[in-house]
Parts: sequence; structure tokens; C-alpha cells
Amino acid sequence: MAGQKPYYITTPIYYVNDVPHIGHAYTTLACDVLARFMRLDGRDVKFLTGTDEHGQKVEKSAQVAGVDPQTFTDRVSQNFRDLVGAMNYTNDDFIRTTEPRHIEACQALWRVLAEKGEIYLGSYAGWYAVRDEAFYGEDELTTTPTGRKLAPSGAECEWVEEPSYFFRLSAWQDRLLKFYEDNPDFILPPGKRNEVMAFVKSGLRDLSVSRTTFNWGVPVPDDEQHIMYVWLDALTNYITALGYPNTEAGGDYAKYWPADLHMVGKDILRFHAVYWPAFLMAAGLEPPKRVFAHGWWTIEGQKMSKSLGNVVAPDALISTYGLDPTRYFLLREVPFGNDGDFSRRAMVNRLNGDLANDYGNLVQRVLSMIQKNCAAKVPEAGAFTEADQKLLGAAGALLDTVRRELTVQAFHKAIEAIWGVIGDANRYVDEQAPWALRKTDPARMGTVLYVLAETIRRLAILTQPLMPDASAKILDQLAVPAEQRGFDRLAEGQALASGTPLAPPQGVFPRFVEEAGN
Ligand code: MSP
Repeated sequence: MAGQKPYYITTPIYYVNDVPHIGHAYTTLACDVLARFMRLDGRDVKFLTGTDEHGQKVEKSAQVAGVDPQTFTDRVSQNFRDLVGAMNYTNDDFIRTTEPRHIEACQALWRVLAEKGEIYLGSYAGWYAVRDEAFYGEDELTTTPTGRKLAPSGAECEWVEEPSYFFRLSAWQDRLLKFYEDNPDFILPPGKRNEVMAFVKSGLRDLSVSRTTFNWGVPVPDDEQHIMYVWLDALTNYITALGYPNTEAGGDYAKYWPADLHMVGKDILRFHAVYWPAFLMAAGLEPPKRVFAHGWWTIEGQKMSKSLGNVVAPDALISTYGLDPTRYFLLREVPFGNDGDFSRRAMVNRLNGDLANDYGNLVQRVLSMIQKNCAAKVPEAGAFTEADQKLLGAAGALLDTVRRELTVQAFHKAIEAIWGVIGDANRYVDEQAPWALRKTDPARMGTVLYVLAETIRRLAILTQPLMPDASAKILDQLAVPAEQRGFDRLAEGQALASGTPLAPPQGVFPRFVEEAGN
């Protein structure tokens, strides 16, 4: 489907005070699968990720580490760049908010907002949570028996009083509500949309958008006492990477904006679905098309935290279970949008069940039979029976189903549909029993194995976004050339050519065997 419109997808930019864990890996993975899917579907994709390097939280972490913030961020943002290779992400750009291009974009956006009268100077007196880098109203807080004030996220709040610029958020309440009404899929899943709308309906206060009590951030143009609120700075990354303030035709902004999808965790939905569209509309720019808020991972039933020592690093999963099984598990185990729990048992069950038994065995059985009984070549196919047509039809219908599910980020449903056909194919092998046909009707055996090989080709083309390496191995074993793996090859008339020589098969998904003592 060449010539379709461009597709722009972004991850949140990660705070560099933390080392990457599976929560971070998850958000970017979901985007990577969509980016790969869209490219195979013929779209011109821009996929952005990066690091959020300013703010009080990062400044404090640098102090604790005993280095200046720039040295600190240079060092720790590398952890997130390393994750790209480890997880096999295909982002087209990696933005750091300390880069000159970003400082320029933030200051340009600020100037537009100021010129339009959307920003004014006042003073802030209220609560601030450094961990969330967020301002909270008194009514949102709980007080502990010792008098500490906690945000709804559990973050400790401190009282802040300082001169501050404000963004006229209160003036945007009705226009935001109208925008949500006019764009019912702007926020997904629908439950989250309702939460955001209720929050906006309850009334918006003007938002403090500058700080004066620390330095680590983008200076406010023409008033260098102030640095920009880290969320205004951070959100702007999505247009910095498109070359903003250049919005001329021919540039990336004109080509890719508005973003098709900002993928975020549920904790940062408010910033993306309320503040960000308000900033953009106030600057006369278009809001993004969608913000999807996914759920959070717990580990063996517990919140992930440094103090509990149960933080799961992506590297550990990859070295234990392999990269593609890790990618598969994270998007298959939990309906996308819900919270989910990572447990070793669930991971091993998926690996040995869905991957080794269902997908891996199907491929191995079929390719071994072809190797032994069909002179190691894609067999000739005779006339198709009803059963053959049914299986080929189910495999042929998959692209539309997967595309439809991914349009609303329902990864689990897309994967379920693919595994539905894997199940059909395994039942077909058992019913057709090609090993028995070898003596009684070799021509029919050839047709059955052809139908299976062609079904596997279709499945492997579709599993590429989720499991790129394993799918490539399967397609290699079917001798499908690298340039024939796009979704255009799922159209009529592109099926496997009989007579193509096939190399001896090798297992793609080894079973996971627990070591003694585990
Ligand atoms: N820097 C901000 C985002 C700015 S975007 C303009 C930020 N960074 S973060 O590093 O704290 O979080 C980044 C993402 O990781 C968020 O989408 C967050 O929801 C996600 N996760 C962090 N912990 C997580 C889990 N335990 N489970 C799933 N995702 C989690 O917020």
C-alpha cells in the first residue's frame, strides 16, 4: 500500500534518574511493534523516543551522584540508548532535551504563547511533588499521621512559593471538552477518556509554567531568572524532532504533524491529554490525533520499586528467555490498557505453550516433513479441498483483522487472532495426517504440506513486527527473499512457488527448561 499517509508515533521521553526497567521497555516496545507494522504496510513512518533530562528530579539525582547535571545526564541517558539495541527497537530518532535543537524549539513555542497572551507573570504558592514534577491542589492531597502531604500517586509534596509564569489553562476548559467530544478516539482506552473528561469538567486552574528556585532547565526567553516548567519543556520534544519552529511545507513538521499516536503510561495521561493539546491549540498548532494510556506492570504481584529490590531489568529477561519471547510475552500476556503482573511462571508458560508448542512445533513439523518427503523443495499443490481453502482463507483474512485491532492498539487481540490461525493449522496437520498420506497418496501429501507452508509464510510475515528475529528465521527457512516480506506479499498471486529449494530446518523457539533448584 505504498503512497499512504505518513505515520508519526512517539514514546514518552524517559527521566534519566532511573535505570531502564520493563515498564520503560514496554512503552517503547508497543510503539516499535506499531512502527514496524506500519512500515510493512507501506506507510512512511517516523518513530521517536528519547530522554527527559531537565527538572528538579534530575538535578537532585545529579547532586546525589556528586556530578554536575550535564555529566550526569550524558552518562545515564546512555542506558536508554543501549536499551534500543537490546530490545531491537527501530526508532528513527532519539531526542535528548538538553540538545540545542530542543532548547530552540521550547523557546520558540514559549514566545508564540507569550505573544498570544496565553502566558502571564504571577506568583505561585502551592504544593509540588518533585517525583512527579507536578503541581497539586490542596484538595487532591492526603495528609499522613505525621503531617506529610502526599499526592494521589503517593509522591511526597512540598510547599513552594515563588514568582512564576502561568499558562491560561482555565480559559481552555470548554475548548478542550469540545475537542474531546469532536474526537471521541483522541484518548484511548475509553475508560481513561472518561476520567480525563471528568477532570476537565471539574474545572481547570491556570498552570504554573516556570520555576525560579533551581536552574536545570530551559531558560525562559527574555527573563532568565525563570526556567521553564519541565513538562512544558518535555512535551515540546514531540515537535522539536520534526524541526519546529520550522513549519514550512517540505519540512518534517508539515509532513508528520499532527502525531498519529503518543503512547504513554496511565500516570502521565493528564499531561498529554489536557496540558499538551491546550498548549498546542493556544499556540495555533494542531493537537495530536491520539493519546493511548497503557497500564502498569507489577512483579509477582508487587509494585516494582528500588526499595523492594524487585525491579526487573529488560537485559535480565532477554538473557534468560530470549529477546523475541520477551517481546511476545509483554504484549500478549495483558490486554493492552490494563495493568498486568509479570511472573516467572506466566512467562515460562507462554514461552513453552504459545511459542515452542504452538508456533515453533508447527513450523518444525511441516518443514521437516517437506525436507524428508518432498525432496527439500516447496511441494506441488493439486486441487484444494474445502479444508485447504478454509485454512488458507483464515490465514488470508488475518491482515485485515490485525490491522483493525492495531488501529485501536489492541495488541492482545491482534496476537490472539494470529494464534487462532496457528491453532487451526495445527488441527489441520492432525486431521490431514500428511505422514500417513506419504504411502497412500503422495500427491495429496504434497498439497497438504504446500497449504501448510503457505500458511506459515503468511503467519511469519505477520509476526515480524512482534518477533522480528524469529520471523526472519522462519521466512529464511521458507526461502522468502528479504524484499518479499512486506504486507503487499499477502495479496492474491504472491503465494510460495512450488519447486523452491529449502534448507534443512532449525528450531526457532526452544523450550525453556527450568534449571534444577528453580
Ligand atoms: N519524563 C516523563 C515523560 C515525559 S513525556 C513528554 C516520565 N518519564 S518516566 O521515565 O518516569 O516514565 C516513562 C514511561 O514509563 C511512562 O509512560 C510510564 O508510565 C512508564 N512506566 C514507568 N513504570 C512503569 C511500570 N511499572 N509499568 C508500565 N509502565 C511504566 O514520566
